[in-house]
Amino acid sequence: MFEHLKALPQDPILGLLQLFRNDSRPEKIDLGVGVYKDAQGNTPVMNAVKLAEQRLLEQEDTKAYIGPAGAAGFGRAMAGLLLGDSNPLIDSGRLTIAQTPGGCGALRMAAEFLKLCSADTTVWVSNPTWGNHIPLLGGAGLNIKQYSYYSKETHGVDFDAMMEDLQQAKAGDVVLLHGCCHNPSGADLNIEQWQAVTNLLVDKGLLPFVDIAYQGLGLGLDKDAAGLRLLAEQVPELIIAASCSKNFGLYRERTGALMVLSANEAQAANGASQLFSAIRGHYSMPPSHGAAVVETILTDSELRANWEAELTEMTHRILGLREQFVTEMAQHGLDFSFIAQQRGMFSFLGITPEQVLQLRNEHAIYMIDSSRVNVAGLSTENIPTVANALKAVIK
Ligand code: LMR
Repeated sequence: MFEHLKALPQDPILGLLQLFRNDSRPEKIDLGVGVYKDAQGNTPVMNAVKLAEQRLLEQEDTKAYIGPAGAAGFGRAMAGLLLGDSNPLIDSGRLTIAQTPGGCGALRMAAEFLKLCSADTTVWVSNPTWGNHIPLLGGAGLNIKQYSYYSKETHGVDFDAMMEDLQQAKAGDVVLLHGCCHNPSGADLNIEQWQAVTNLLVDKGLLPFVDIAYQGLGLGLDKDAAGLRLLAEQVPELIIAASCSKNFGLYRERTGALMVLSANEAQAANGASQLFSAIRGHYSMPPSHGAAVVETILTDSELRANWEAELTEMTHRILGLREQFVTEMAQHGLDFSFIAQQRGMFSFLGITPEQVLQLRNEHAIYMIDSSRVNVAGLSTENIPTVANALKAVIK
């Protein structure tokens, strides 16, 4: 039975992580997988997470099943974080929420749900998009189409091309948008562009699907959700996939949320029964721990303030690294000023795959073949090394 299976190439992001781990050169620098790193290069457990875990250890009184929807308190708290605490949509009866195993779980279950809505659903994803979007959505059987997004020339969003491509979408098609901190480019829509996209979606009867995995790591918790909130106010139906991996540093705890906004309560109730049945058929129910931590933090004013302060510090560190990198490159006579205009953990350096390989082989500097770097992997100490190596391969 198994003899017909062929080996697949490594995942471009996780495979690189393995290569990095196997590299014995002590000076190696990891700008690959998107995890936050502090000035020492560690990915720490956030202080509020530690405190919440201590509290849970003392207070948790059961390990009984939590059910396909997960914890209602977590869902409510996440809806508040994403849509704004006092958003009337949260208690409108139109919003179905599922706690999911990470943002990936949310994306995949959204795709399964869309398949149930229509067997021939097409989802439009940005070109480029996060490497796992297509496997997650296409693997569920959705048709994938791409819309133009990032311009290599301007290092920003090619908004005209994006709108032109989305004009080709047909009523009922789904449009996947990155809520903030676009992965891999770091180039985000501004609020006027969000409004123009919203108008187009409404005019053409397209369904918005927002993946928001970096809330708080771009411009701050509320500003990063501004586009999503604008959309939610104006469209009848919406899907949101959210991740707590980065902003709570809960990567391995697989904590995320899927939200489906329906046009009315009756449709929401029908949709919820379909979604929870699909979850039951896939993994039955999500793991509890990470979501319990998030709920504890978001519902306790002291822990929440502690978490927000640490998240703000992380965001400022990333912004500072962007500035430092630009300054360092300018000293080498190279203009990388676009890096300081972009937001979140990622940016493209704009070098060729050969140059990326040269950086890895000759300088032990790791990044994705597309030249996407995890800015949080930079540090005041390693920026001069990265800049020197980059100058060497560009020349
Ligand atoms: C990334 O883009 O590097 C992260 O989202 C990690 C992952 O799972 O790919």
